[in-house]
Amino acid sequence: MWHQTKVTEILGIRYPILQGPFGGNLSSTQLVAAVSEAGGLGGYGVYTNTPQEIADIDKQIRNATNKPYNLNLWVSDTDATEGTDSQYKQAVQLFGPYFEELGLPIPPKPEPYLSRFENQLQTILDIQPRVFSYMFGKLTADIIAECHRKNIITIGTATTLDEALALEATGTDLIIASGFEAGGHRPSFLDNAATSATGTFVLVQLIREKVKTPVIAAGGIATGAGIKAAMTLGAEAVQIGTAFLACEESNALPLHREMLFSEKAKYTTLTRAFSGRLGRGISNRISAATIGKEDQILPFPLQRQFMSSLRKGAIDKQKWDMLFFWGGQIAPILKHRKAAVLMEALIKEATALFTT
Ligand SMILES: Cc1cc2nc3c(=O)[nH]c(=O)nc-3n(C[C@H](O)[C@H](O)[C@H](O)COP(=O)(O)O)c2cc1C
Repeated sequence: MWHQTKVTEILGIRYPILQGPFGGNLSSTQLVAAVSEAGGLGGYGVYTNTPQEIADIDKQIRNATNKPYNLNLWVSDTDATEGTDSQYKQAVQLFGPYFEELGLPIPPKPEPYLSRFENQLQTILDIQPRVFSYMFGKLTADIIAECHRKNIITIGTATTLDEALALEATGTDLIIASGFEAGGHRPSFLDNAATSATGTFVLVQLIREKVKTPVIAAGGIATGAGIKAAMTLGAEAVQIGTAFLACEESNALPLHREMLFSEKAKYTTLTRAFSGRLGRGISNRISAATIGKEDQILPFPLQRQFMSSLRKGAIDKQKWDMLFFWGGQIAPILKHRKAAVLMEALIKEATALFTT
């Protein structure tokens, strides 16, 4: 049976299909429950949530499904607690005209940002979800051991072979190989994200060759053929993000979903302009105009804070070319708008391909 792998055994799920967790308020309980109920592993990104919010989200998910699910955090959630005056001035110079165009005041210098990870991790240990995945870093072997004592399975995320080796050395249970086709942020933690730009299928093969921990392929997969290709190369499961983000159950704006199904989705780009860290979404005016101006963008998450009023203003004034719609390179072939229907299609297509 193609769908019985080390990953499904470890996670206690029927099909080797993980729904990629989305940070920044794009995950939803309905999406997690729909995927877990269909035999995959639903995932919820909680890196922007407070410990209390995480506990509440966990309760809602437990009320919606009794199947395994995954909560996700960012280990490194800040690149600089405070920006310098000169960085702020540069950002105002580069982005100020967009605020002016929308009739918005230039935002003040972002407030210092303190990492939330330690407190969030404590909450995860307290509420004990069956699965805890993380990106932008590795956990210490002690924390992994503590997770195991609490019966929590851990999944780390690698964008390079070196990162996979570093994750394996900590004893993490599973490793996601995140290729550069993927939507959302590039979660590199050993080297610069821009130079850690390996595609999913190369990365899976490199990791598979040198690492014993089971590998989950992420990036550019949205069909049964994609699942079969990834598993043929050695992945023991896949993680699918963009195709689930486009489903009705996700917390994306209806317009965001429409954009993923539109002609515009043919053109995605990696940019730091909207958060301060490199991430993939549909190209727009601002991402195009800021190419090569990296040094005028504030560090993460200060840039996100700086741009937040522009985002709200662009939504209010329906200036869609100023909003960044996160998504991956696979978007132009998406077909399904309901998570259960997408799951059914993935399983049916993969089953047919594996049995021919
Ligand atoms: C909008 C968006 C937000 C994401 N946020 C997170 C996150 O917070 N944590 C995480 O581990 N992965 C995150 N991802 C990555 C997905 O979980 C998944 O690995 C990726 O989308 C797979 O590639 P695909 O988009 O080509 O399917 C995000 C992806 C998207 C599109």
